[in-house]
Amino acid sequence: MASISGNEPPDLRDLLAFYAAAGVDDALVDDPIDRFAESAQRQAAPAQQAASAGEAPRAGADRSAPAAPPRPAAVAAVPDEVQAAAARELASKATSLDELKQIMAGFDGCNLKATAKSMVFADGNPEADLMLVGEAPGRDEDLEGLPFVGRSGQLLDRILAAIGLDRKSAYIANVIPWRPPGNRTPTPHETEICRPFVERQIALAKPKVLVTLGGPSAKLLVGSQDGILRLRGSWKSHVTADGTVIPVMPTLHPAYLLRNPAHKKLAWRDFLEVKAKLRELGSI
Ligand code: URA
Repeated sequence: MASISGNEPPDLRDLLAFYAAAGVDDALVDDPIDRFAESAQRQAAPAQQAASAGEAPRAGADRSAPAAPPRPAAVAAVPDEVQAAAARELASKATSLDELKQIMAGFDGCNLKATAKSMVFADGNPEADLMLVGEAPGRDEDLEGLPFVGRSGQLLDRILAAIGLDRKSAYIANVIPWRPPGNRTPTPHETEICRPFVERQIALAKPKVLVTLGGPSAKLLVGSQDGILRLRGSWKSHVTADGTVIPVMPTLHPAYLLRNPAHKKLAWRDFLEVKAKLRELGSI
């Protein structure tokens, strides 16, 4: 029987499976980065600086005792509510979608930004009467920097075509602009931090009709705790900060429809409602 000494090189497949389970499924740069070496260097730096500056040991410091490892430079942990308040303040300052995009690009308060490759702001026509809001970018969207470009995006394009629309006649965004690692569900805190940005995006785009794709964006934008199968199919409202009331049609997420094709007929009904509403408003 083969013995396991613990010294065998890890099986590459196991390692990759571990990475995938941990949400590490993308190479961000071509060459590996040795984070252990980087942090060892950072930790050594203050001691070296002190030594080269000829600093005497602090009074009371025990010369014979092994030196305590220098603490890494303190990174202030900013509570999520503070980040959400900062996001609200910043978002309210944007007077155009371009300004909002720049503000969001400079905002470091959402941890998802650190692991995402790009910020996925929007696609389509910001002047369109119809705005669609999804949940968060996936792998393809993160790579391209555009919402709904993967398989669910292709289905979304087909759904739009079925009611005579395309990406030039709709504006498309997400509640969260940064891909959660491994496509995990965004946490409530991450959603609250990003909420002011998507709300401002809606207020600035001024769509006549909103369609939410999937449960999270429906719940957030119509302020409901109901599940998507209960919410979908009937008109709800989203009220912007200035009091504008926008009709919202919550519908099923295209990724859900890919997994549950029998429910495509429900989404089809929802989009027929959207078409009728756009016609009623003189948009098509
Ligand atoms: N799913 C979403 O909710 N948004 C995207 O942009 C892609 C997939």
